[in-house]
Amino acid sequence: MGLFSGREVSILGAGMYVPERIMTNDDLSKMVETSDEWIRERTGIRERRIARDDELTSDLAYNASLVALKDSGVLPSELDMVIVATNTPDTLFPGVAPKLQGKLKASRAGAFDVQSGCTGCIYAITVAVSGIACGLWNKVLVVGAEVLSRIINWQDRNTCVLFGDGAGALVLGPSLSGQGHFISAELRSDGARSDLITLPGGLIEHPASEETLREGLHYVHMKGNDVFKFVNRLLPSFLKKMVQTAGYQSDQIDWWLFHQANLRIVEGVLRRLDVDMDKAFVNLDRYGNTSAASIFLALAELFDSVNLVKGQKLVLSSFGAGMTYGAILYEM
Ligand code: UT7
Repeated sequence: MGLFSGREVSILGAGMYVPERIMTNDDLSKMVETSDEWIRERTGIRERRIARDDELTSDLAYNASLVALKDSGVLPSELDMVIVATNTPDTLFPGVAPKLQGKLKASRAGAFDVQSGCTGCIYAITVAVSGIACGLWNKVLVVGAEVLSRIINWQDRNTCVLFGDGAGALVLGPSLSGQGHFISAELRSDGARSDLITLPGGLIEHPASEETLREGLHYVHMKGNDVFKFVNRLLPSFLKKMVQTAGYQSDQIDWWLFHQANLRIVEGVLRRLDVDMDKAFVNLDRYGNTSAASIFLALAELFDSVNLVKGQKLVLSSFGAGMTYGAILYEM
């Protein structure tokens, strides 16, 4: 269960884009009752990027996609599918993916969004890989993009210190000999905990009204400490089993790329897996939690900064609203 079959699928290129504006912890401490020390100690975050007022999620997605396409040598006209994982689409419809497909002039490609909390990245990549493995598609652009700064209550210190804006993209295609390939994926959900991370207002359950505005239902609501416990309890055994199912032990994984939400979560999960922290790639200190973009940003920076060797194994893993969670195993 969970192993990919059919054609082997490779990462052909990667890219990322973050807005220029940096918001530091000190900047935040002028807005809410918090401090650089509290944020660093409890989360590991030092700063995050904030999109300009005129920047949309589709713009961030477009900028990251141009880098990934250039890196891969694939032309927009060769793409069969454009998939965007996001929880902050410019509008509920049209989705970000069709807008991106149009901007790129990827004239042969279909396009759709994936919304599955922060785990949207893992879901989107898995769908892309599956579509290529079975022969339905050849070249797929898969993107994670978020402008979370527009759905954050900047007066709520429980959430506003955590999130940031950014986008990352991958171009995937069938492996040529000698290229890396996706080995397995596990996608899970525990809908019984759907109350932990929500944006309740403005749609069907609570249509926009003066009351939803007054109560701030159009902002992210999160029971942070419950999420923290949920993840620490569940993720280590889930990941251990996921890796074993593919025929490996945790200590055979060269790089762990976790959802960049909280350094204490990364440390806690690795400790329970008995794996050293130097096997984790961490960039949450500079970008905060960018939700469905987070794994893409980590991958793009890992590829840029580390000389990965053929045969090395990477685990990508995320969790988020739903509560969804999942992981992917890739061999270089
Ligand atoms: O992608 C979505 C996934 N979400 C997550 O990964 C979030 C997971 N959870 C976390 O990362 C952590 O639970 C948080 C960083 C959100 C909070 O850390 P915590 O250690 O769980 O703190 P807490 O919620 O138990 O709060 C401890 C105290 C509280 O004060 P009292 O009640 O003890 O007086 C909070 O009010 O810290 C207070 N607090 C803050 N203090 C200063 C909460 N936020 C802040 C803040 N600055 N920004």
